Amino acid sequence: MEKIAVLTSGGDAPGMNAAIRAVVRSSIYNNVRILSVRDGFTGLINAQIEEMNLSSVADIIHRGGTILKTTRCEEFKTKEGQRKAMNVIAVLGIDGIIIIGGGGSLKGAKVINSLGIPSIGVPGTIDNDMGYTDYTIGFDTSVNTVVDAISKIRETSISHGRANIIEVMGRDCGNIALHAGLASGAESIIIPEMEFDIDEVCRKLLRGRNRGKLHSIIILTEGVADPIRISNEIKEKTGIETRATILGHIQRGGSPTAFDRILASKMGARAVELLIRGSKNRTVGIQGNNIVDMDIDEALNVESIFDIDSYELANVLSI
Ligand code: F6P
Repeated sequence: MEKIAVLTSGGDAPGMNAAIRAVVRSSIYNNVRILSVRDGFTGLINAQIEEMNLSSVADIIHRGGTILKTTRCEEFKTKEGQRKAMNVIAVLGIDGIIIIGGGGSLKGAKVINSLGIPSIGVPGTIDNDMGYTDYTIGFDTSVNTVVDAISKIRETSISHGRANIIEVMGRDCGNIALHAGLASGAESIIIPEMEFDIDEVCRKLLRGRNRGKLHSIIILTEGVADPIRISNEIKEKTGIETRATILGHIQRGGSPTAFDRILASKMGARAVELLIRGSKNRTVGIQGNNIVDMDIDEALNVESIFDIDSYELANVLSI
């Protein structure tokens, strides 16, 4: 392994820069040349590639986003796009690639492996929706951002005696809502994994009001229901004034938490180690307190197990 390339792909996530830093510095430490690809798979197809050195990744461990930029590349899904990318890899003499991103990016890593170049995945997405790993890079920061936003909304909510419906990201996964909801003491958590009953949400609100509660927080994963419609329905059914907030991309920005920086550093370093050891088609994860790696095909087949215990706990504690 003489020359490694690294790219970020899909939605950015806080901590990706810390992972890039770890990949670059671990490679150089091991006397391996390291190239960076700009704009994800698009940059691989268009040869937007440059050599990195130790200083290229100075002062980025604390920065959100990705210095390499990212795309969701449709062209790489085509045979022609893949042919162009593999041609660039061959011309530049790249021996292995590290791909930092979510589930879609892992599929891209699998394609590169199948075309003969060893590739390693590093899970970076705020959604924490990859079943084989307990955490993905960016999730912890995102949850903390949501919790901070909820604390602010709670203050105005108390002043006005309102119920606030807060929509968070997660694509098809309720993990951000669940963790932020548990950490914020939300009254109701509405997520794709669990059926919800608007009448039960309203009954809970009214029970709270009857014992003097001044505000209520209902947290909702995007795509499950329209927050404005939910907000109006709750107002009609309970008479409580409501407001809806869609937190949006604020959840993807910001300086990564210490947890995400450490996770990203360990995962990035493990990815380099795997390539040097001659592994291919593997992805890095964390299970319990251990950094692990797994075959990509196997990892893609691991179903996410919903944390029903935390969901039930949140319900009990917000009774
Ligand atoms: O996968 C990360 C994520 O932020 C999802 O939670 C969300 O559904 C999606 O990306 C938003 O994508 P975009 O930035 O393209 O709007």
